Amino acid sequence: MPKVVAINASPRTTWNTATLVQDAAQGAHDAGADIEYFDLYKLDPFMGCRSCFACKRGKTAGRCVCPDGLTPVLDAIRTADGVIIGTPNYLGNVSAGLYALIERLVFQNLTYQTDPRWYHVPSTPTLFIMTSNAPSGSYQDGGFYSDMLQSRLLTLTNAIGPTRPFVCGSTLQVEDYSRYEWTMFDGDERHRRHERIFPLEREQVHELGTELVTNPWA
Ligand SMILES: Cc1cc2nc3c(=O)[nH]c(=O)nc-3n(C[C@H](O)[C@H](O)[C@H](O)COP(=O)(O)O)c2cc1C
Repeated sequence: MPKVVAINASPRTTWNTATLVQDAAQGAHDAGADIEYFDLYKLDPFMGCRSCFACKRGKTAGRCVCPDGLTPVLDAIRTADGVIIGTPNYLGNVSAGLYALIERLVFQNLTYQTDPRWYHVPSTPTLFIMTSNAPSGSYQDGGFYSDMLQSRLLTLTNAIGPTRPFVCGSTLQVEDYSRYEWTMFDGDERHRRHERIFPLEREQVHELGTELVTNPWA
């Protein structure tokens, strides 16, 4: 049975990102996959790369040996047939927790040799979900977040395998906007979008999760 690893890299475990990661995971499960699910912010404490270079020598070459909360995630990804990662856009990037995971994933695989560049050729299909206040259109070609998204996709492609994006913009950030003096946002509009569009986006990621198993992209 194929194994799919699903990672929610939002500190909130029931909001936009987690919901979409769970929907994609459900799609993969419906297609016959075993799911290993991680809430990154519920793990034991972890950090980014410590620059110990154990992953560049001897028996541990190609493998991060830093023992902390990320160890089970790195182990699970190593044996996965598919990976689903969801993160909120935090300050124009992935969340800090996911960035720590990315440092560990990429650096362990980098040989520091001119040839070959990587210890393992990454081939595990990966679905990358990003949610944000900014509208989805700002991630398209020429948009404010287009370069950032392309860069994160390339990094994940080099670290895990061919990566496809799913962006969910203009999310509902809080239930009751009237409790905050947030003149940037129209709370009623956000609620309307959450009721009308978000359910369709949930169906779309569910389908992508299924495709990850039935027709994995290369
Ligand atoms: C620390 C922080 C930084 C954020 N930075 C951005 C940002 O730069 N651009 C953006 O579009 N949204 C930004 N947001 C909004 C979140 O990306 C958005 O609300 C997201 O859907 C939250 O995901 P969640 O509901 O799963 O927690 C930020 C939110 C927080 C808390």
